[in-house]
Amino acid sequence: MIENDHIEIDLLLEAIYRKYGYDFRNYAYSSIKRRIFHFIENESFKSISDLQGALLKNESVMEKLLLTFSINVTQMFRNPQFYTIFRKLAQELFSNMPIIRIWHAGCSTGEEVYSMAILLTELGIYDKCRLYATDINEKVIKKAQSRIFPLSQMKMYTQNYLDAGGEKSFSEYYTARYKGALFNADLAKNMIFSVHNLVTDKSFNEFHVVICRNVFIYFNSDLQNKVIDNLFYGSLMSGGLLGLGDKESLHLSNSTEHFKVLDKQLRWFQKK
Ligand SMILES: C[S@@+](CC[C@H](N)C(=O)[O-])C[C@H]1O[C@@H](n2cnc3c(N)ncnc32)[C@H](O)[C@@H]1O
Repeated sequence: MIENDHIEIDLLLEAIYRKYGYDFRNYAYSSIKRRIFHFIENESFKSISDLQGALLKNESVMEKLLLTFSINVTQMFRNPQFYTIFRKLAQELFSNMPIIRIWHAGCSTGEEVYSMAILLTELGIYDKCRLYATDINEKVIKKAQSRIFPLSQMKMYTQNYLDAGGEKSFSEYYTARYKGALFNADLAKNMIFSVHNLVTDKSFNEFHVVICRNVFIYFNSDLQNKVIDNLFYGSLMSGGLLGLGDKESLHLSNSTEHFKVLDKQLRWFQKK
């Protein structure tokens, strides 16, 4: 028998979809349930249906809940070896190409995109790259555009950068401003930020590289497959690269046979 909470959560997610168009119906259930109960407690709602009533009447409740659903934890040069592999692949594949389009899907506050810009600058190919960075959450996109990251993180990011094969002094890329590190404007000149929902929006270009890390962990397997098969497969050119997070894989997708595994552990795949 389905538990009452499960029925109420299904109804809540259906109401959100029908009223606001955000489709969380195929997010991983245990994680979405945890977030809903956390929100109910913090915002002093009496029950899931109490929250549902408020959501339907008041858009600001939806905006707050959206922030709770969107988990924005990120880092610069997160899993440094992911970037070491990319450095080699980019040298092999992109040296002679006139333009390279890279899509960071679910980019959060942008640390991943700035890491990529630094790497491409050091490879001497940044000028011919376009870095498209998207997220469902408008607030994190605005933060990414500010180029400011916490100064307190720079020690860890410097170590990640060096472990990823960084060639300079990391501090050359930013200026300290009070508690923030303002990254150089040059790094952002080929970045294009926009709000995009992987579940309901379509592709908007053809890419040489799609990077979507630590987003699928919040989706159930049907939704992961839908995004890979319909959105990412169609958005990549043949020979294009797909990079996933270290706990994510392609193994259940219909497109598995259309991708070559370049590095199983570091989750780099290539469209055949
Ligand atoms: C944990 S962060 C990952 C950030 C970065 N990719 C990394 O690996 O460090 C997950 C991001 O996915 C975004 N996200 C969740 N659902 C999404 C969706 N349907 N479409 C686009 N972005 C989504 C969240 O807003 C959040 O910023």
